[in-house]
Amino acid sequence: MENIFPDLPGAVDRGAKERLLDQRGMLVWFTGLSGSGKSTLATALERELHSRGYLTILLDGDNIRSGINSNLGFSPEDRLENVRRIAEVAKLFVKCGVIAIAAFISPTEEIRQIPKRIVGPENYREIYVSTPLEVCEERDVKGLYKKARSGQIAEFTGISAPFEEPGAADIRLDTSRSSIDESIDLILTTLGFTVSR
Ligand code: ADX
Repeated sequence: MENIFPDLPGAVDRGAKERLLDQRGMLVWFTGLSGSGKSTLATALERELHSRGYLTILLDGDNIRSGINSNLGFSPEDRLENVRRIAEVAKLFVKCGVIAIAAFISPTEEIRQIPKRIVGPENYREIYVSTPLEVCEERDVKGLYKKARSGQIAEFTGISAPFEEPGAADIRLDTSRSSIDESIDLILTTLGFTVSR
């Protein structure tokens, strides 16, 4: 981009902010099908970290898509743009020393590369919520699978749009096989936090 100077000389740097908060900024990215349990785990993780005194921000498909990304749909291009914007928002928080927790379907490897590249791999941890499609469809919390099957929603992930299995996730969790507490313990351990339960 021409005539743009992204670094602001004299701005308080990330290290100073992390010392102020006594924590390290990072982006924890949940990927998986709609209904897989991403938001449930992301919310539980945020509550657990908050109760331990960490500053967090929770970014979730349904709330981000009703605000900053309300002009985007579910075409492959819009999903890329959805995730690109979220990753840029997350980067601002990570540079502030905040633990950003994001839950987005992010259905392809190409899409999942975006947050990893934008915040940097050293600041990025990926959690694949691998709950099988049949279970997600059976749960159908929002009634969207039924609508997708009857053709009322086009390009629905897992039904009429693809979901590629992540190849490089730091953790893989199936919420039909493990409890929320077990999953959170595994996530905390993988992220380098102690488990006290
Ligand atoms: S992503 O593919 O761009 O990462 P995102 O996580 O933001 O998706 O949004 C997914 C949420 O949007 C789902 O949980 C569901 O509630 C809703 N949704 C509406 N239409 C679709 C669709 N065609 N495919 C997937 N999710 C959809």
